Amino acid sequence: MPQPNWPACPGGICIAPSLLAADFGHLADAVNALAESGAQRLHVDVMDGSFVPNFTFGTDTVRSLRRETALPLELHLMIREPERHLETFAAAGADAITIHQEVSPHLHRSLTTIRDLDCRAGAAINPSTPVTSLSDVLDWCDLALVMTINPGFGGQKLIPHTLDKVAALRAEIDRRGLATEIEVDGGVDASNAGDCVAAGATVLVAGTAVFGHNDGPSAGVQAILASLPAR
Ligand code: DX5
Ligand code: ZN
Repeated sequence: MPQPNWPACPGGICIAPSLLAADFGHLADAVNALAESGAQRLHVDVMDGSFVPNFTFGTDTVRSLRRETALPLELHLMIREPERHLETFAAAGADAITIHQEVSPHLHRSLTTIRDLDCRAGAAINPSTPVTSLSDVLDWCDLALVMTINPGFGGQKLIPHTLDKVAALRAEIDRRGLATEIEVDGGVDASNAGDCVAAGATVLVAGTAVFGHNDGPSAGVQAILASLPAR
């Protein structure tokens, strides 16, 4: 079942800073800098060097982060055969686990497993994956993640076409009366956060815009929130 303690998004919008853009030598400082920032959760990108051309965090890092912060940890698994590692990541302290449709032939089973592990379940799609590929599993998704860049690296530009997919997903979720969150991930900053929300996103992942902000991560979160129309 979904986590009972998952915080609501103020005004319906949550900011999820992505640790990918933090200094990996000072992760504890990075998460502590977010404590009073207005961010509601921490986005942790797990990469395997195969599904995506980059490596990042593993279960031990997740365990350390869990000790370091009270923020909920949402894991974005960019790994092949994610179903083999769900239990380990849940035990390490994940509150939410998102897996990619492209590497999950049994997506329904995997989403059900994630919920059975007391985590919120998410399904993600790449820019080239049709949004309709999530239609048959939306009932088991607490979160649908629309990649707004090609996954693997931070600091890329948002691909505008992906917001059409967000809008299509919003229409489908509303038509069916589902509570599934829509998350956008990649190239999100204060210049386009409003467009993401207008398209129907409710969770904005931001790495570079948060950790690359001149005045620090907290100012980065605040800049994105301030860019949104009054809610
Ligand atoms: C990329 C990751 C993103 C990344 C976004 O594959 O999934 O979460 O951190 O970084 P920015 O916000 O810099 O595009
Ligand atoms: Zn991500």
